[in-house]
Amino acid sequence: MEVQTAARALEAGGRSVVHMEIGEPDFPTPEPVLAAAREAMAGGDIYYTSALGIPSLREAIARHYRDHFGVRVDPERVIVTAGSSAALLLTLALLVNRDDQILLADPGYPCNRHFVRTLEGETVGIPVGPESNYQLTADLIGAAWTSRTRGVLIASPSNPTGTMVAPQEMRRIATEVAARGGILIVDEIYLGLTYAGQPRTALALSDSLFVISSFSKYFNMTGWRLGWLVAPDAAVRDIEKLAQNLYISPPTLSQRAALACFMPETLSIVETRRNEFQARRDFLVPALRELGFGVPVMPSGGFFVYADCSLFGMDSERFCVEALEATGVAFTPGIDFGRHRAEDHVRLAYTIAQDKLREGIRRLAAWLPSLRRP
Ligand SMILES: Cc1ncc(COP(=O)(O)O)c(C=O)c1O
Repeated sequence: MEVQTAARALEAGGRSVVHMEIGEPDFPTPEPVLAAAREAMAGGDIYYTSALGIPSLREAIARHYRDHFGVRVDPERVIVTAGSSAALLLTLALLVNRDDQILLADPGYPCNRHFVRTLEGETVGIPVGPESNYQLTADLIGAAWTSRTRGVLIASPSNPTGTMVAPQEMRRIATEVAARGGILIVDEIYLGLTYAGQPRTALALSDSLFVISSFSKYFNMTGWRLGWLVAPDAAVRDIEKLAQNLYISPPTLSQRAALACFMPETLSIVETRRNEFQARRDFLVPALRELGFGVPVMPSGGFFVYADCSLFGMDSERFCVEALEATGVAFTPGIDFGRHRAEDHVRLAYTIAQDKLREGIRRLAAWLPSLRRP
């Protein structure tokens, strides 16, 4: 966010900036979703809904799991939330008591640490790198488990690395966590945006996982603040009570709009956009490698590349500042995502059109040779 602020300040001063720091799709909300919102608004029926979300949307989400992932999910287990942020917060609020530990990958999505801390729990960041696809494994989880560990939170695909947990490893993880009496939470917010064959949801593994998702990324609806959670049966009532108290209901207009997400027209729009993200990735990763960035694992989902910039002879925070000043290309330092080798990494987002990505690479290619290499 601070890089973005600095980049916007440069722009306000007349500089041209290539934004590779932005963590949301550049595509507008699909037209059928806008049309559904306009219709709902004209009807004026914008009251609170059930804290669990409107039943037709919960059913549509359950059908989506059946049609696209081949998994049967009872709509009663689907809880619509104010973004996946609220789904994460509700799940953690239900599970985390004071001093409980939640295991996370380092690097990972930073808000999770803050959610757990707000709840007086503690996160344990487990260092991950290319050897495990920048993801947790059953062995890493087993080795980090203590008497205070309550559960594990995994994002697959991950922000910032774009890498995924292989289905067989996710199965081993679910077994390991269950054997230790813990809870597994899987954040699948980027699961719709994957580029390596048909993605698999962790819901296929067990009914006792918490699976988090969102309309923000795949459906290009970040500002509508709508996501969902699939919870074990036994947790639904408690989650409902928490949601009622914390925010009463998810946004009504957004829910009515989101009903149009599962129409064939909308799915065809977002699938075309997914292909565009893949084309951007296929350009960007080889181009970064050519410039000397380390990208040892091809990211297979989301819209991020977590690149090793240690070859350029300065820590990643300084590298971000200097790159922005020298070239007008903005990206994010690793320190936002954890501690493990954070000073060696930057996150680049391909949430801009291919011509802008090419321009960013052209500017970096002109600047990087001037840096003194150690
Ligand atoms: C891994 C991950 N989880 C959750 C979120 C929260 O997204 P939202 O609340 O818009 O669904 C983000 C946002 O960038 C994310 O990257």
